[in-house]
Amino acid sequence: MNRGPMSSHLKVRNIDWQFPDDVRWNWNPGNPSWGNVGHYIGFMAPGFERYFIKSIRKAIPLMRDPAIAEEADLFCKQEGLHAKHHQSLVAVLCKQYPGLKPVTDEITGEYDALFEKETLEFHLAYAAVVEATFSPLAKFVAGNRQCLFRDTDPRIASFIMWHLMEEYEHRSSALNIYNHVVGSYWYRLRKAPQVVKHLMHCVDIIERGCNAAVPAADMGMVMDRHKPLYLEEIPLKNKLSTLFDLFCTLFPFHNPDHVEQPEWVRQWFEAESSGIDMRTYFPNVSP
Ligand SMILES: [Fe+2]
Ligand SMILES: [Fe+2]
Repeated sequence: MNRGPMSSHLKVRNIDWQFPDDVRWNWNPGNPSWGNVGHYIGFMAPGFERYFIKSIRKAIPLMRDPAIAEEADLFCKQEGLHAKHHQSLVAVLCKQYPGLKPVTDEITGEYDALFEKETLEFHLAYAAVVEATFSPLAKFVAGNRQCLFRDTDPRIASFIMWHLMEEYEHRSSALNIYNHVVGSYWYRLRKAPQVVKHLMHCVDIIERGCNAAVPAADMGMVMDRHKPLYLEEIPLKNKLSTLFDLFCTLFPFHNPDHVEQPEWVRQWFEAESSGIDMRTYFPNVSP
């Protein structure tokens, strides 16, 4: 599907996610390494998404095209809700393991420092580089969901799928914003290694902090980005096509809208618009 940049299509879904105190760190015991991926996202998201919001809100007055400004506003609203709900989930985990609180503070501090240190062009390039990867990732997760989520807590699994589906929905927004306000492909490409280096630095903080704060017996598996994601059951062609899709995000004429929409993704949007309670949709309603 090719929508082009005229986009008031983004929907702000104010879902009342609930994370009661019985949520467990090891929320996906059938594949704890994938459960840990959820934690990397969870500890990263509040600092990372608010960094994008601050940067894009700063860029909105520079936008000459009202359609791009509208898309930017809706993008910020979606990301604001992602950050808010991830923060609520992290707060429940911090109550159980108080040593986690400095991890989330440190990540927020990293992104606040980056916002002060770098230029608006850099911030928009960071968002464009990272956001472009989410449509291949959403396609990968939706297509391999039965292997990744096993014996899972539907409240967390459904929450992560909501986030990914909205990442899929606004897959071209950060690139549209970057192209409109900055425009240089070479600058974005040149900054990509710095973006990856910064992300890996944040992953280090999360691994070090979470492994120290949560007893190994509660973890299922220690956080280690090098640990396999129990991917052996995922067909090789799925892994290769995801790597190819990720690589393509760095090409000059890459259009995130050209990433094929999986059937499950289409069903998720349809179910959500029909009023189904998405808070336990996956895997309870749609395995
Ligand atoms: Fe997000
Ligand atoms: Fe996003």
